[in-house]
Amino acid sequence: MKTVNIALPKGRLGEKVYQMFRAAGFDCPAIEENNRKLIFENREKGVRYFWVKPSDVAIYVERGAADIGVAGKDILLEYRPDVYELLDLKVGNCRMAVAAPESFRDFVGSTLRVATKFPAIAETYYNKKCRDIDIIKLNGSIEIAPILGLSDVIVDIVETGTTLRENGLIPIETIVPISARLIANKASYKFKNEELRAICAGLEKQVNNND
Ligand code: PRP
Repeated sequence: MKTVNIALPKGRLGEKVYQMFRAAGFDCPAIEENNRKLIFENREKGVRYFWVKPSDVAIYVERGAADIGVAGKDILLEYRPDVYELLDLKVGNCRMAVAAPESFRDFVGSTLRVATKFPAIAETYYNKKCRDIDIIKLNGSIEIAPILGLSDVIVDIVETGTTLRENGLIPIETIVPISARLIANKASYKFKNEELRAICAGLEKQVNNND
């Protein structure tokens, strides 16, 4: 049996996703001990997990350091890594949206100033609408950009809507729904096909159970 290297996103979503792997029969007891280690292996089950920053999972998988991993659809749309998307895990559900202050009025002829952590997603969206935009790339706290007059609108992830509400913004358009996806390295999918398909089938059952 070949060992499958699995990159999981550190944090709450990753914990949830690991529980799905565990329920699918790919447990790794050491991972549940409370420590700061980042790599865990269960040789009997043929799995080696490692925790990485959520936005880095696709890089590990694309370059083959991980055979499979779990990444948000937002990251896949923004960076377009050359990987296979095997399964929608239907957790980490949220949406990519345009939001603006209540006072915002759109003038179609003008250039729209858009603050976002996701410039490629924003650009694709507005290109389709033939809308001229000026992208302001930020790395966090996007919600304050329109409040301070840095931008007209923001393109960001909305989950519960609390962050928008508490900063006086309202969602005005939904760009795309987002959820966590199981992704695979293209070469691994060929050379560890049996192993990867077994994991994917096990997870698919968990997704259906959660429905
Ligand atoms: C995301 C996003 C919003 C918030 C939305 O940030 O950028 O700020 O979550 O969630 P809500 O609708 O439930 O309030 P995240 O917590 O991922 O941190 P980040 O800004 O570092 O990406």
